[in-house]
Amino acid sequence: MVTEVVIPMLGITIEKGKILKWLKSEGDFVKKGEPIFEVETDKLVTEVESPAAGILRKILIPVDIEVPVLTVVAIITDKDEELPKKYKSITPGFPTQPSISPTLQKPAPMLSPAISKRASEGNYDIAVLGAGPGGYVSALRAAQMGARVLLIEKDELGGTCLNRGCIPTKSFLSDIKIYRRVKGSDLFINGSRVSIDLERMIARKNRVIETIKKGISLLLQSQNVVLAKGVARILDAETIEVSSNKKRKVFKANNIIIATGSQVASLPTVKIDGEKILSSDDVLNLQEVPKNILIIGGGVIGVEFATIFHNLGAKVTILEMLPQIISTEDEEVIRGLKILMEKEGIEILTRTKVVNASSRKNKVEVTLEREGKQDTLIAEKVLMAVGRTPSTEGLKLERIGVQTEGKFIKVNSRMETNVNGVYAIGDVIGKMMLAHVASAEGIVAVENIMGKVREMDYQKIPSCIYTFPEVASVGLKESEAKQKGYDIRVGKFPYLHSGKALAMGEAEGFVKIIAEKELGQILGVHILGEHATDLIGECLLAMNVEASIEDLGEVVKGHPTLSETITEAALDWQKKAIHLPRN
Ligand code: NAI
Repeated sequence: MVTEVVIPMLGITIEKGKILKWLKSEGDFVKKGEPIFEVETDKLVTEVESPAAGILRKILIPVDIEVPVLTVVAIITDKDEELPKKYKSITPGFPTQPSISPTLQKPAPMLSPAISKRASEGNYDIAVLGAGPGGYVSALRAAQMGARVLLIEKDELGGTCLNRGCIPTKSFLSDIKIYRRVKGSDLFINGSRVSIDLERMIARKNRVIETIKKGISLLLQSQNVVLAKGVARILDAETIEVSSNKKRKVFKANNIIIATGSQVASLPTVKIDGEKILSSDDVLNLQEVPKNILIIGGGVIGVEFATIFHNLGAKVTILEMLPQIISTEDEEVIRGLKILMEKEGIEILTRTKVVNASSRKNKVEVTLEREGKQDTLIAEKVLMAVGRTPSTEGLKLERIGVQTEGKFIKVNSRMETNVNGVYAIGDVIGKMMLAHVASAEGIVAVENIMGKVREMDYQKIPSCIYTFPEVASVGLKESEAKQKGYDIRVGKFPYLHSGKALAMGEAEGFVKIIAEKELGQILGVHILGEHATDLIGECLLAMNVEASIEDLGEVVKGHPTLSETITEAALDWQKKAIHLPRN
């Protein structure tokens, strides 16, 4: 089959493009979706993916020649297929328009039919609902690619991550780490008498949030993204109503990305009152540290807030119904973290199901089931950390027939819902409720709208948990790798053998790498230790470029660095770690 490769329409206002670089040569085999050239327009530089698999038979437009969009720049044929005569007579560099309608070149790298419709005055190519890390990143990427973007937000820029999640907790943890260090060390005179000023800690957290919010606002302005403040309601697949202060405004957009996030969930029997029974939103502005707190749920939020409250001086008990806390992590990491948390004084009750919690005068009563018996615990405060639920209320999804799976919006790997031109990303689709996943899904949605062929790959997404010490992982757990039938070996290196970790006084934890025996393919990395969430980055890169575990062990690291622990774990896999005794 002969396929014409064209300069895609990369935005409504983009008329011309110049090929900067051919990434493939004539005669090369190209895969469908593989980048084949880089194009520059007045607004962006981007890679263009091959619309088909086959042999790149002829390049018609060399580099550095500006041609109109939709110009045919190359021809792809099947392996044993000759170049048709009509292309033989074309002189390279002489532009030609496609012989078939670009919209028929499926899945050609061009704008979807929805965006190729020219928007009428005042209308948008893409309306993004929600300005969290999914929504605002989508808006920025879409604007970078030349789309006219409307971003709608009812509350604050940055969503849960910036205002009530990732960032505020990291600001707290950073302050608490210094406090804990001073208090727990005999290096400082009167160190044990130091106390933390909660009010100032909250004020600093608020300043961090405001600084980042201003940054996002400036980025949006610099990319000409239009921000509409108010509550969005979808009237039809191209029409959104935004209401604010009893005023309503209607916007038209060729595509909609729903990025409305999630909200705190509770147990059906428990009402979060914000006073004694708290959500993770409520605890961010607590004026006093409670004497004791029961945390319902030993997931990510549970363990992070257990770390915060314990280090602020509260007696913390985690109640988790499963046999493990942070149950999606590698078993050895879970065991390690549990031991370290318990050693610090955090009580962890697993196989403990909370069935009810009710506020009394100065306390909360929690009813739980444990080992087949009911029991009651009493505490000053309770934190509900049993998960989050998607925010779709009021959007009127049923009006346009968007399919859901349970409460979550159903999408395919291109982030498309069942309704043409309507996409959904982030916590509302509930694949992985993480800020970085929402951003990645947003970019996939936008690039599909803008004519690229992109699919979301969930295989190499890092998990980062901010406890003392941190937990980070990517890929398969040891048990999963075995279940999948891989013949594996595990390389491990304890922080205790790292000069940097010892010098920092942070020698707890380990790096564990799981790789397949024959080719050394890295299947999973699990780190429990100081700066684990940063260290996982190099492992992600290694896995993304398909480096083997031998490659990972060959990198010369700066000394002393925590990053040496990764190299040593990779060397241990090969039974040649330098800083481990022979066993
Ligand atoms: P989660 O789903 O991670 O954990 C909830 C835990 O509550 C589970 O372990 C569950 O077994 C337990 N649970 C449920 N019902 C219970 C009951 N009746 N009694 C006792 N235990 C019960 O949800 P979490 O921690 O609330 O976090 C919500 C979302 O936010 C997650 O998807 C998480 O990944 C994300 N998040 C991510 C962070 C990060 O990446 N660092 C930080 C905070 C949140």
